[in-house]
Amino acid sequence: MITILFLGDIVGEPGREAAARFVRSYQKEHGVDFVIANGENAAGGRGITARLAIDLLRSGIAVITTGDHAWDQKGIADYMATEPRLLRPANYPSGVPGQGHIVLETSKGKVAVLNLQGRTFMQQLLENPFRVAEEEVEALREETPVIFVDFHAETTSEKIAMGCLLDGRVSAVVGTHTHVQTADEKILPNGTAFLCDAGMCGPEHSILGRDPANIIQRFQNCLPAVFPVAKGPVRVCGAVVQIHESTGRAQSIRRISQIVREEE
Ligand SMILES: [Fe+2]
Ligand SMILES: [Fe+2]
Repeated sequence: MITILFLGDIVGEPGREAAARFVRSYQKEHGVDFVIANGENAAGGRGITARLAIDLLRSGIAVITTGDHAWDQKGIADYMATEPRLLRPANYPSGVPGQGHIVLETSKGKVAVLNLQGRTFMQQLLENPFRVAEEEVEALREETPVIFVDFHAETTSEKIAMGCLLDGRVSAVVGTHTHVQTADEKILPNGTAFLCDAGMCGPEHSILGRDPANIIQRFQNCLPAVFPVAKGPVRVCGAVVQIHESTGRAQSIRRISQIVREEE
């Protein structure tokens, strides 16, 4: 059995710190074979930088996925072209820097990670993720049956559709982007673990990890505003999936949602 820990969108310094601390302690207590995290909001809530990606990769995260905020930080496209463990959604037009998938060796065999982005209510109208998913998965299955998909999308219906499409062909389809964890974790009929949204790693008393006051104001007056990352306690959200490495079928999926306190 191979155990994969996945963490949802890491927001700002509080999210980075808590995610790294959580990975360390979870690894020590429970032992996991592979850690994946969505890092699209790692840099002050917007995007990720090379330095922050390196820090996250050093903290025990094997692969960083992203989404619509992938490119928010200057210079990241150049870095992405050189660091295959930092993914961008696979359904960007061809020629865009970076990769949407990776296959890495573990002590229990190869693990593939595939990053896709939805189109419903998303700003960037990327290539059809359902078409790209099928092509990518077919190619990845030549290498390994253990395939973890981060589907970065807004609506539950689009995410469930992706889960159903890939059921039996990948080990897990877990959603990101809304920053709010859903409680619909399940093993689909043909053995794929599914969760609409993993939730975020970020400040508990916040809206998407940002200070509520400024966001409320934006809803009230519709004016452009800055949204600082909120302060206070931090919640780490994600899921742990157990997968039969020989078949790629998921055995279990369990949600993670935990306040991570400062080390004493
Ligand atoms: Fe996000
Ligand atoms: Fe997003």
